[in-house]
Amino acid sequence: MDTTWQGHAKVEEYLERIGRLPARITGEAELLDALPAEVHRVLDLGCGDGRLAALVMDAHPEVEAAVALDRSPAMLGAAHTRFAGDPRVTVAAHDMADPLVVDESFDAVVSGFAIHHLAHDRKRTLFDEIHAALRPGGVFANLEVVECATPALQAEFFARIGRAEGDPEDVCAPVEPQLEWMRAAGFTDVDCQWRWRGFALLVGRK
Ligand SMILES: C[S@@+](CC[C@H](N)C(=O)[O-])C[C@H]1O[C@@H](n2cnc3c(N)ncnc32)[C@H](O)[C@@H]1O
Repeated sequence: MDTTWQGHAKVEEYLERIGRLPARITGEAELLDALPAEVHRVLDLGCGDGRLAALVMDAHPEVEAAVALDRSPAMLGAAHTRFAGDPRVTVAAHDMADPLVVDESFDAVVSGFAIHHLAHDRKRTLFDEIHAALRPGGVFANLEVVECATPALQAEFFARIGRAEGDPEDVCAPVEPQLEWMRAAGFTDVDCQWRWRGFALLVGRK
């Protein structure tokens, strides 16, 4: 059985439980709060079933276009179902390991618990590409799984989210180097705007 994001089993288990974690709900509210006052175009990287893109569109009825990218066929299927009939939304297959090729026109680039699947070097170059994809004043808001400061805190985090250990697909980085990589990519006002244990909201503005 395929137990990666590419398969149905992990995706179904994830989609069944995501709405129930209070810390996630709080992090999502903080992500929405970090976005510009007006969002006309939004890009969701590693979109899963499109949950974050949908939250942004609910909070910003002025959204004219949303682009939702993921590489998992199972997740893309769920996203297609969610957005069926909404002409504003483009759901497409994209592996974030490959260069991001989009217009430089987004008011917001959001990502939820996805970029930590990439190798650290690729996280850095992706931050460059996200910066390029934003219009001036646009915001990158990355709600992420991050490495905790000590093994004890890491174990406590896993216990709090009901896991015995980390996901073998995770390549988590601590908060501080990620903020540095965002600054190096050209972002300003870079900060960790919210954190609960191993969840963090990393935000920067172009
Ligand atoms: C924990 S889920 C999060 C989904 C969604 N963003 C959310 O907030 O619920 C991680 C997502 O990242 C996607 N993902 C992991 N590695 C990826 C890659 N290299 N390129 C594109 N998507 C990737 C997975 O397919 C999955 O949909």
